[in-house]
Amino acid sequence: MEARIVTLPGDYIGPEIVKEAVKVLEAVAEKYDHSFHFDERPMGGASIDVYGEPLAAETLDACNTADAVLMGSVGGPKWDHVEPSKRPEKGLLALRKGMEVFANLRPCTIHPQLAGACPLRPDIISKPIDIMILRELTGDIYFGKRWRSEDRTKATDEMAYSREEVERLARIGFEMAKKRRGKLCSVDKANVLECSRLWRETVDQLSHEYPEVEVSYMYVDNAAMQLILRPSQFDVIITGNLFGDILSDESAAIAGSLGMMPSASLGKGTRGLYEPIHGSAPDIAGKDIANPLGTILSGALLLRHSLGLEAEAAAIEAAVEKVLNEGYRTADIMSEGCTKVGCTQMGTLVAESI
Ligand code: IPM
Ligand code: MG
Repeated sequence: MEARIVTLPGDYIGPEIVKEAVKVLEAVAEKYDHSFHFDERPMGGASIDVYGEPLAAETLDACNTADAVLMGSVGGPKWDHVEPSKRPEKGLLALRKGMEVFANLRPCTIHPQLAGACPLRPDIISKPIDIMILRELTGDIYFGKRWRSEDRTKATDEMAYSREEVERLARIGFEMAKKRRGKLCSVDKANVLECSRLWRETVDQLSHEYPEVEVSYMYVDNAAMQLILRPSQFDVIITGNLFGDILSDESAAIAGSLGMMPSASLGKGTRGLYEPIHGSAPDIAGKDIANPLGTILSGALLLRHSLGLEAEAAAIEAAVEKVLNEGYRTADIMSEGCTKVGCTQMGTLVAESI
């Protein structure tokens, strides 16, 4: 098949990791006889440097006409002085909103080879852990109004959700749970927040359409604890934008490293935005030591969800497992007896295993 993929390398380690993911996707194209056209655009700080804004209109247009978008990471000290409305992160939020990708899939599994990198006791992770965190991505306190009082001593961030926003996200969660282990846990703070009460009400109503799915509700503080105490209890978790941001970083600790975690953001159609869940890691940029696997695995999600290429997606995932089995590790997941490799070499090893 032919596909046009916009790449947004972004800032600091972003270009290094995206380069490796493209290398792997090119290996897939060659092996399976596809033609992927990569259209690279500046984003975040890199875009501020070129266009004076973190997401240019023409970049968003390119994304909205592509089959899929692969992003690296944005932000960093170089642009910390930039006014809040033009920060690199603002570009990422505008991209998510502009592409209307409201459903953010953040899978958390433990690669058995990396169990040693997981800070939890072996008996806690002896049961299989396979969690899909489904984070709402275009609403919540992330997109509410923000303001300061005139004397600047008081700040407000508005949190809002509509029934429609909750329902479209929850529906995807129920559909996923049906195809997985049939369990859905909705995480909120309904003992305090009105948004959460609307969230729970909406999920509860929808649950009647999915009698085969076992639904549970958890407050976010308890969920944060349960993820550590008994992560194997979770199948699909649905939650709002802010809680999902926090819980997905927590789940990354379970998986061993933030560097391993891919994500997919989807809207109504098949077009999606794919990015690792980690940031731009300014401290390790330019040293060829970043872990590209989160981005490479995001590439697998891209093939699966946007291009419908399941075998090819599985081939990337298998290649990553093979390279890990052979003992190759980037610095963040390094352990005794393994072979330390840099970002470029890790990408090459995965590409060669396709
Ligand atoms: C993430 C990141 C972003 C978010 C930041 C960079 C705006 O933490 O993708 O999890 O909060 O969504
Ligand atoms: Mg985050």
